[in-house]
Amino acid sequence: MSLPRQAIRRLDYTAPAYLIDRVDLTFDLDDTATRVTSRLVLQRNAGTAADAPLVLNGEALVLESVKLDGAPLLPDAYTLSDEALTIPAMPDTAILEIVTKINPEANTALSGLYLSSGNFITQCEAEGFRRITFYLDRPDVMAKFTTTIIADRTKYPVLLSNGNRVGEGTLDKNRHWVKWVDPFKKPAYLFALVAGKFVAATGSHTTPSGRNVAIEIYVEPGNADRCHHALSAAQKAMAWDEQRFGLEYDLDAYMIVATNDFNMGAMENKGLNVFNSKYVLAKPETATDADFDGIESVVAHEYFHNWTGNRVTCRDWFQLSLKEGLTVYRDQEFSSDLGSRAVQRIQNVRGLREYQFAEDAGPQAHPVRPDEYQEINNFYTWTVYEKGSEVVRMYATLLGTDGFRKGMDLYFKRHDGQAVSCDDFRAAMADANGADLEQFGRWYSQAGTPVLDVEGVYDEAAQTYTLTVTQSCPATPGQDTKLPFHIPLALGLLDRRGQELPLQLEGEPAATGTSRVLALREATQTFTFINVPYHPVPSLLRDFSAPVKLDYPYSDDDLVFLMAHDNDAFARWEAANQYATRLLLQRYRNGETDTPAPEKFVAAMAAVLNDTRLDPALAALMLTLPSDAALFEALADVDPQKLCAVRQSLKEALARSLRPQLLTTYQKLNTGAPYRYDGEAVAGRALKNVCLDYLAELDEPLTAELLANQYRHADNMTDRLAALKALAQRDDGESFVDDFGKIWQDDALVLDKWFALQATSSRPGALSQVQALMSHPAFSIRNPNKVRALIGAFCQQNLQHFHALDGYGYAFAADRIIELDKLNPQIAARLASCFNRWTRVEPVRRALMRAELERITREPGLSGDTFEIASKALSAGT
Ligand code: TRP
Ligand code: ZN
Repeated sequence: MSLPRQAIRRLDYTAPAYLIDRVDLTFDLDDTATRVTSRLVLQRNAGTAADAPLVLNGEALVLESVKLDGAPLLPDAYTLSDEALTIPAMPDTAILEIVTKINPEANTALSGLYLSSGNFITQCEAEGFRRITFYLDRPDVMAKFTTTIIADRTKYPVLLSNGNRVGEGTLDKNRHWVKWVDPFKKPAYLFALVAGKFVAATGSHTTPSGRNVAIEIYVEPGNADRCHHALSAAQKAMAWDEQRFGLEYDLDAYMIVATNDFNMGAMENKGLNVFNSKYVLAKPETATDADFDGIESVVAHEYFHNWTGNRVTCRDWFQLSLKEGLTVYRDQEFSSDLGSRAVQRIQNVRGLREYQFAEDAGPQAHPVRPDEYQEINNFYTWTVYEKGSEVVRMYATLLGTDGFRKGMDLYFKRHDGQAVSCDDFRAAMADANGADLEQFGRWYSQAGTPVLDVEGVYDEAAQTYTLTVTQSCPATPGQDTKLPFHIPLALGLLDRRGQELPLQLEGEPAATGTSRVLALREATQTFTFINVPYHPVPSLLRDFSAPVKLDYPYSDDDLVFLMAHDNDAFARWEAANQYATRLLLQRYRNGETDTPAPEKFVAAMAAVLNDTRLDPALAALMLTLPSDAALFEALADVDPQKLCAVRQSLKEALARSLRPQLLTTYQKLNTGAPYRYDGEAVAGRALKNVCLDYLAELDEPLTAELLANQYRHADNMTDRLAALKALAQRDDGESFVDDFGKIWQDDALVLDKWFALQATSSRPGALSQVQALMSHPAFSIRNPNKVRALIGAFCQQNLQHFHALDGYGYAFAADRIIELDKLNPQIAARLASCFNRWTRVEPVRRALMRAELERITREPGLSGDTFEIASKALSAGT
């Protein structure tokens, strides 16, 4: 059995003993034997003892030679282990020349230098640079890099690295070289090298200070017609960051490379971002509206990292949310400004609740700034990213847009070129605004989702309305008790006609507006509003002003009222969501799978469909029932199959009751107009396809015809896939699924949709189908996108079949995790999180899941990545 790695602790941080000012790299590229020559200009850090050893990280490297100040180091002058090259005696300053040999072809972990479709790609965050050469691989060591790449001219015509291209030439044996200089110092995790056959789609952007930036998107030949959207997203992101935050790009070229084999979404290497091709390539025939949205936000995200991450970087990996939470906030704001703010917010909150709240309530719960980790790759989490972005959003909510901007300005003024901490960011926000954000720091240190219990009392005689708010936060691993958070609670009060009442707290001279933010700081606080002429319905946590769970005893009628009248679009959606959740949980508890939908609920949903003033995108979201996964979180001792059946039956019942309205709306929106990607068209398709999804529940010839027609005649992937998803759930759908698979057999990204659609099927035999598809010629267990599409989708999104009572779903997952762990530990560890909620299912399945988790942890040679996830999951049962 593998041993857990030693935990790394935040409080053990010490400054580096040596600093690197410059690094000159030369890569002699070869598929199986690449030679990396590194010349480091080093100095001992101030305050370091003169006899401190130099410990360079290194992993899976063959050391060929080391020279110190020009002289070869004799074997007794250094020690070499699996993880480090240690030189015990170092002068104050030194030039170290190290030659290592690496094997990119054998690199299936996709960390360090590897081959993807015959091209060289690097991925260095978080600790991949040490798989390229021996180095101080930590983010607080920032150096200026130059990179010379030598490679075969025919196989690798394009040679890229960070910064500016300063020279190139040819060599004998059909080889050529290119030299790059990055003028900005950076940590090693931002290093990148790309070599191969690419074509570039190009555009440009001129900054306010007059810099003309070339934007270059490098893709495999044949994909040049799918870059337009990513290119225009990059241009929009540049303009937006200038406008909103006064931040300009700082190099002459901004390069993006698309690759098919990538562990995550994309990577912000300085000047040379590397992207999963899923987040670059799109045209209407192959990409859905959701894909287009995803590209826009990921392009913006990586671009925004140039300031929040690269110019100002992290002191250590515990501070990861400093760059990720902030950059997610920035990309969310960008998308909100480009499209519908309300829809963006609801989608983000939906994801947060479904995944981050689950993480925060489970065995992997950790603070936004974790206190310890075994494997940093396991901490690129929903908590660090999405909860981290909520924390940044709360500064903006508490300080206002201008206050937030002042804080950002001060942050860059103080820390440009530095590696800093979450506390430095908080201090900039506080100092720029003269605000006290001491208590706010608990958002970084305390894990768990806070709960707000709210009570409202109306005093008719006194014309007052008193809200009592009590906050609490459940225990999480290693944190039994929590202190109160500093929470912005946005609210409004509605009278019975749906008008917003002016808000005036006791002691205030006058009312200020009809929507405001209360700052909570204590365990219990009361707020008394005066001059309240009617018993109001409170609209609470408007725009989801804090990442908390809010409990207020709304009646069904209150929720119907808020659905129809709240001015805050988020609150309006939330009312629908709460109502549907309440109903589904009731039906689950009562075991109702064939009762009709309650009239009041049907009427409320009908009103949504009939409300012509409502944004169709918002209507689509309001009509969508909460996911199985979201409902799962609200229950204990869950029988997942029963849960799926209950949700499914309410969906069917609603479809029957709303048939005429659904059909009318569908037909009204099914205009046959040619595809456009813009807010209005996207919103229309969203609502149309929600209607279609409901109608598909009805077993009648008309719906079969609608589905077949939409599948056959759609001029875009959004509509075609929506029809296919519904068809795939029906007895008459198989030929359509086959047809789609054949038509797109050579298109990797489209085929991922086809794999996922079958992996998430609720029809009998889904697991055997998934197993059969693993032998499909287009499937490869080495490709993370394929693993996510087929195996990940089955284990994480197919509640029905993953949780089959025979335990085969669990055994399949464990087998795949063990298989993948040998190839790509990062991907295996992510997949292993499908067992996280095992203590929440009923006892029979619980025992089965536990046995599989134990089997995983007992696997000889298991990676630290997977071991950390599986062992933490198991510890939840003790
Ligand atoms: N920093 C990247 C981002 O958020 C994500 C990232 C971290 C990553 N580690 C990675 C991407 C490893 C690929 C592989 O934008
Ligand atoms: Zn990021």
